[in-house]
Amino acid sequence: MTATEDLFTPIHKALRSMIYSLGGRLQTVDFADKTASAAVLADLQHEFANAVSATCVLCLLHGHAGNEEADIFPSMQPIDAGLIRMLIDDHQEIRRRLIALTKMADELESIDPPERRTEFGARINRVANEFFAFYLAHMNKEEVTIVPAMKEHFTDDQLRAMQGAMMGAMPPERLASYLRWMLPSLSLGELTGTLAGMKHGAPPQFLQFVNGIGTANVDPARWALVRERVGF
Ligand SMILES: [Fe+2]
Repeated sequence: MTATEDLFTPIHKALRSMIYSLGGRLQTVDFADKTASAAVLADLQHEFANAVSATCVLCLLHGHAGNEEADIFPSMQPIDAGLIRMLIDDHQEIRRRLIALTKMADELESIDPPERRTEFGARINRVANEFFAFYLAHMNKEEVTIVPAMKEHFTDDQLRAMQGAMMGAMPPERLASYLRWMLPSLSLGELTGTLAGMKHGAPPQFLQFVNGIGTANVDPARWALVRERVGF
């Protein structure tokens, strides 16, 4: 029987929300104003030396590719090596683009004349749009290739075990950063299913941890409904 667990689509919804939000801020920010543009630039400045704990949007986009490579791709490698090669090639391209964007954001910090900042900011926006388009297309690709292949080859229990291992390997601060984006990005049905799964399989402290993040980040009426349906 085909499995129903999907290790990609819910977290991809979080990553899409990050991209849509950052894209919106990037195209409206006044790059000439150093103070006003500092926060949006910080989301582009990936700290490669501190990649696991950093919570900037680019850091989370990069970290996700690393999680897939460490905790998901190895189990698919013997089944479809060609698919995994293609997805890893995409990840390498993502890394190249990430490095270029971080360098540009660093460079803008040292530019003072407002006209030059505006011009350089417009270039950053274009390069970021190219990066976002590539990243979005990559996620679309994973959702129509590796997602159905994994459902075909693994049971729901095996898929849940992989997901548990991936979340367990993450520092809590990093996991919280993904959940802050993911919980408000899911449909009501997905949110209910995810929380019901956690109530069933995870320790009570973990459900508490997730409840704290949900209370702070999900629309209150929706979160109350999920709590009532799942019973926590
Ligand atoms: Fe990926």
